[in-house]
Amino acid sequence: MNRPLLGTSAIEIGIDRDDREPFQSQIARQIRVLVLNGRLKPQSRLPSTRALAEELSVARATIVEAYEQLLSEGYVETRSGSGTRVAAELPEALLTSPVQARAEQPKSAAQSRRREPARPFRSGLVDWEDFPHDAWGRLLGRFWRNPPIALLEHYDVFGWLPLRLAIARHLFEWRGITCEDSQVIVTAGGMDAFDLISRAVLQAGDRVWMEEPGYPTARRIFSQGGVMAVPVPVDGEGLMVAEGRRADAAARAAFVTPARQYPTGVTMPLARRLELLDWAADAGAIIIEDDYDSEYRYVGRPLPALMSLDQQARVIYSGTFSKVFSPILRLGYLVIPRALLSRFREARAAHGAPPSLIAQPALAEFMAAGDFAIHIRRMRRIYASRRAALIAALKPGEGRHYVISAPPAGLMLLLRLTGQRGDDALVERLAQAGIEAQSLSGHYAGKSRQQGLLLSFAGFTEADLKQAARRLMEELEE
Ligand SMILES: Cc1ncc(COP(=O)(O)O)c(C=O)c1O
Repeated sequence: MNRPLLGTSAIEIGIDRDDREPFQSQIARQIRVLVLNGRLKPQSRLPSTRALAEELSVARATIVEAYEQLLSEGYVETRSGSGTRVAAELPEALLTSPVQARAEQPKSAAQSRRREPARPFRSGLVDWEDFPHDAWGRLLGRFWRNPPIALLEHYDVFGWLPLRLAIARHLFEWRGITCEDSQVIVTAGGMDAFDLISRAVLQAGDRVWMEEPGYPTARRIFSQGGVMAVPVPVDGEGLMVAEGRRADAAARAAFVTPARQYPTGVTMPLARRLELLDWAADAGAIIIEDDYDSEYRYVGRPLPALMSLDQQARVIYSGTFSKVFSPILRLGYLVIPRALLSRFREARAAHGAPPSLIAQPALAEFMAAGDFAIHIRRMRRIYASRRAALIAALKPGEGRHYVISAPPAGLMLLLRLTGQRGDDALVERLAQAGIEAQSLSGHYAGKSRQQGLLLSFAGFTEADLKQAARRLMEELEE
């Protein structure tokens, strides 16, 4: 139900009574957005707590709490006799949305970030030219110049609650996952997540299905805990469940990348997902879903996450901000079935340290205000055209030495080598020519290895990619 605020129908806030989010934080969040997007100007007066409570049919204490929250965050100020106003010293720049601010940023600031380009196809890079550096910097500064006491005295090892709430909403909207914020754990990225899973639910000697080829980092982290990796081959539909059953039907867990198999890029279709869930139910096993870059799908809608199909609370979901936002942030998240939460809490408290809180409130705000979704949509357009440019540039060489395998998703593509050439030797040759590809064979645990080159395109301009593709084709001719 929306109601006018400040007597002007252009500015509205409302309360969703079915929402899990407390009323006071719904109100504070909406006022924050109105301030950030400039619809509530500095010094404009907010309605009295009594008037707004009446309008929204909530207790006056709810409004008082919302205003106090905004006060502690520096959005509003109070002066005796003149009620609550939007803070005067809010920097003008804060009133522009990140997208606008970025567009208005002077050229020189953007150019000062230019540097010698990284060697083409290096993995793990994202685009920095279109990153919202200014908006992000302002958000960080705002939280830490005047930090709310709840942040200074924070102690929950699962992370900053507003961020966990924002992640739960993001997963509902983008991945079809219904979970509570209490099920979300903020991690320091994939490695930290796999390590935590290992400590919380696996034991030395447990056997875990791992995709073959697959993600070597995950294989390494699980093995460190004494877990035995059972390689299960991957076909055009992802992990072959029937092969897994043949190899080790009673394994404790399976590690999968269903949205975009790493590194082949194939998507696991619905029938295979259900087959995997059936196996997990039969074996009493856990499925670890690594959903590392699923927001980047360029054609059609992504299949919802495997976790969204899970009726038996067998799936542990892992996501990361490394691809969709920034790999240097070192933040990711897990979604855990409720029954396992206490084991994760114990494991988190007993080992190492939870990730830093520095970026968590800013990221929560960035997500809650809708700017994270805008950023992803924008980057998706940019990466789609980079991908298309790279494929077009590699087309002339297709058939002679390689076949391009590029499902319309993710941040890299695979060239499957067609000749007798070994990919490791080729990667070395290319490195001497200034090209940084990864070998497909390096992603296998077993002996039988297909040969190919993995090319990451996210961190390179279309012009850089075209030039690198030409160089790569020349090298292959020699
Ligand atoms: C398959 C896969 N899973 C997970 C991750 C998560 O990485 P991070 O530790 O940066 O969160 C990555 C990053 O490259 C990846 O390639």
